[in-house]
Amino acid sequence: MTGRLKDQVAIVTGAGQGIGAAIARAFAAEGAQVIVAERNAETGAAVAEQIGGLFQPTDVTVQDDVNALARLAQDRFGRVDILVNNAGANVFHRPHEMPRSEWARCMALDLEACWAMAESVLPMMRAQKSGAVVNIASCHGFKIIPHTFPYPVAKHGLIGLTRALGIEYAAEGIRVNAIAPGYVDTQIARDYWAGFDDPAAERRKAEDLHPPRRIGQPEEVAMTAVFLASDEAPFINAETIVIDGGRSALFHD
Ligand SMILES: NC(=O)c1ccc[n+]([C@@H]2O[C@H](COP(=O)([O-])OP(=O)(O)OC[C@H]3O[C@@H](n4cnc5c(N)ncnc54)[C@H](O)[C@@H]3O)[C@@H](O)[C@H]2O)c1
Repeated sequence: MTGRLKDQVAIVTGAGQGIGAAIARAFAAEGAQVIVAERNAETGAAVAEQIGGLFQPTDVTVQDDVNALARLAQDRFGRVDILVNNAGANVFHRPHEMPRSEWARCMALDLEACWAMAESVLPMMRAQKSGAVVNIASCHGFKIIPHTFPYPVAKHGLIGLTRALGIEYAAEGIRVNAIAPGYVDTQIARDYWAGFDDPAAERRKAEDLHPPRRIGQPEEVAMTAVFLASDEAPFINAETIVIDGGRSALFHD
């Protein structure tokens, strides 16, 4: 299928690699004008060039950058139809060993920046009386894995933000949804396994946790982002779609 996002203006944060890059590519393939909002100038510019999109160097935790992004969208297109809050990072500690600065770093990126981004595009979406926000949460948004604090706290919050904004603006034609992926084959996951003595064994362990005996691919998340952002999901709002091959439904093997 093509043209499902024809002429839609989309901002995708953290789109220089991984899930964000896959979403940017899928959106462009469906006809969207994509603004790649990425902190890494090299990867961000490369993805934007590849898909014929715009690159805007952006650190989503810096309010001036967020404001500049919204201004760019307003000046170039006069609208934003889709916002994907994808930029994020693992911040994993045992709670009692965590420096307080790590709590702040995690909340700033994995939660507060998503609100700052939504806040910056809401005036355009409200004026248009339409818009779709897709937040990339995580299975950590409703389940806990020990020693990963405070990442799940932020992702629980992101699902809460999804519901709160989805309810608040539904009558104005704006839908806010989230995707909760399980393990996806990206740098974030590879970096996590690299922290163990035997990264290959750790990867196999992760694959075995999922009923299909594999982890997810970024493109599998991107397909759901296209669906949620498109006219195919007009009555899906304040909802979170889990993409984990059934892992979170499994009691035990
Ligand atoms: N990979 C997984 O297993 C997995 C599972 C569940 C949820 N997620 C979530 O998916 C999202 C994307 O993860 P990924 O696996 O593609 O990670 P990744 O590390 O491969 O990519 C993250 C991208 O975000 C960018 N980024 C980081 N901080 C930024 C900032 N402050 N401003 C702008 N850009 C910034 C990075 O430069 C990078 O390009 C994250 O929110 C993550 O929490 C990932």
